[in-house]
Amino acid sequence: MRAAGPGARPARRLLLLLLAGAGVSAAASPPAPPLFNVSLDAAPEQRWQPVLRHFDPDFLRAAMAHILGHRIPKWVHAVIQKAVEELEGFLPQPFTGEIRGLCDVLNLSLADGLLINLAYESTAFCTSIVAQDSKGHIYHGRNLDYAFGTFLRNLTVDVQFLKNGQIAFTGTTFIGYVGLWTGQSPHKFTVSGDERDKGWWWENVIAALFQRHSPISWLIRSTLSESENFEAAVYKLAKTPLIADVYYIVGGTSPQEGVVITRNRGGPVDIWPLDPLNGAWFRVETNYDHWKPAPEGDDRRTPAIKALNATGQANLSLETLFQVLSVFPVYNNYTIYTTVMSAANPDKYMTRIRNLG
Ligand SMILES: *[C@@H]1O[C@H](CO)[C@@H](O)[C@H](O)[C@H]1NC(C)=O
Ligand SMILES: *[C@@H]1O[C@H](CO)[C@@H](O)[C@H](O)[C@H]1NC(C)=O
Ligand SMILES: *[C@@H]1O[C@H](CO)[C@@H](O)[C@H](O)[C@H]1NC(C)=O
Ligand SMILES: *[C@@H]1O[C@H](CO)[C@@H](O)[C@H](O)[C@H]1NC(C)=O
Ligand SMILES: *[C@@H]1O[C@H](CO)[C@@H](O)[C@H](O)[C@H]1NC(C)=O
Ligand SMILES: *[C@@H]1O[C@H](CO)[C@@H](O)[C@H](O)[C@H]1NC(C)=O
Repeated sequence: MRAAGPGARPARRLLLLLLAGAGVSAAASPPAPPLFNVSLDAAPEQRWQPVLRHFDPDFLRAAMAHILGHRIPKWVHAVIQKAVEELEGFLPQPFTGEIRGLCDVLNLSLADGLLINLAYESTAFCTSIVAQDSKGHIYHGRNLDYAFGTFLRNLTVDVQFLKNGQIAFTGTTFIGYVGLWTGQSPHKFTVSGDERDKGWWWENVIAALFQRHSPISWLIRSTLSESENFEAAVYKLAKTPLIADVYYIVGGTSPQEGVVITRNRGGPVDIWPLDPLNGAWFRVETNYDHWKPAPEGDDRRTPAIKALNATGQANLSLETLFQVLSVFPVYNNYTIYTTVMSAANPDKYMTRIRNLG
């Protein structure tokens, strides 16, 4: 993914573009994905069925077959097929039950359903930003970029997970995929995950699964479901063993509650909080360790920082953050969706599908 040199776009021109406001983002007027409720009060095997009814089963089967055929090596398929009964015993709920329910509807084996869920854990290039405005409000935004994503745009959904009929948390995902890369626990915190580009080794993933490490997106979802506040969420996301490396970006509800957690499988490598009292009112994370320079061939970090600088802390809002996430190459041909959110204002959670059509 080769991007134009970061110096190509003078900040002044960018500022003018940003100030032109609605005109810029309205150019494409990207659509919202469908919004569904999924009730956690229903059995895991049942709870996605009302959602699945809104999709053409033939399209869903074709999409799943595409992922199985193109993204998963044959030997991995053979190993998981063999190991699935053994694995199932200790894979965490509700994820396994939900995958089983999806498999029943789509006529897939549990092994295939599990592999589809693991396949998405890799090759997601992303940009996440957490930032604080001059009044101390916290905003969080993300682009999810995926090179093989054509049909993923049609599978993207916003989901409100209900407990006792109330919204317990909200997230954005793909149909068939029970984890979350993006989500919000209302009035508590927001989380996004960006792949940490160290290569994806199925050997390591399978070994880690047997050691009961969590898939990256399952930990985001269980954190949204269980953690009582920003601090508890950061602790859980930093400490829980994972099947692969990742960056977790977390936003809270009070001033200074924003952080980028750099993870390896065992635990945290680095914790990088907002430091607004010393001028660091935003943190930008793409797919590279923040203490190293971004590679020249894929520098989405510098353009994002320039756009935030041009916006200014006083003008930060969900709208201007969306515009920052619409600046090339932060926004690019592979961007599937953009989400902006602020845990203190949960109703403003907004996802837009990008590059559609
Ligand atoms: C379900 O899958 C099995 C085995 O692959 C196949 O024999 C059967 O025809 C499929 N049923 C439907 C309804 O697609
Ligand atoms: C995805 O949806 C768009 C717009 O509804 C449609 O034009 C396109 O054909 C769909 N793509 C697939 C792979 O179904
Ligand atoms: C989802 O559930 C909430 C809370 O019960 C309700 O207010 C809302 O109308 C539901 N939305 C949909 C799309 O079903
Ligand atoms: C953004 O602004 C900060 C503070 O003024 C400055 O140090 C930094 O070089 C700027 N970065 C870019 C990429 O413009
Ligand atoms: C914020 O935007 C307004 C126009 O909408 C502009 O006049 C003002 O200079 C901007 N403030 C900063 C700090 O960039
Ligand atoms: C993005 O897509 C457009 C239109 O399909 C194409 O002209 C352009 O070369 C692509 N850009 C990159 C960087 O791949």
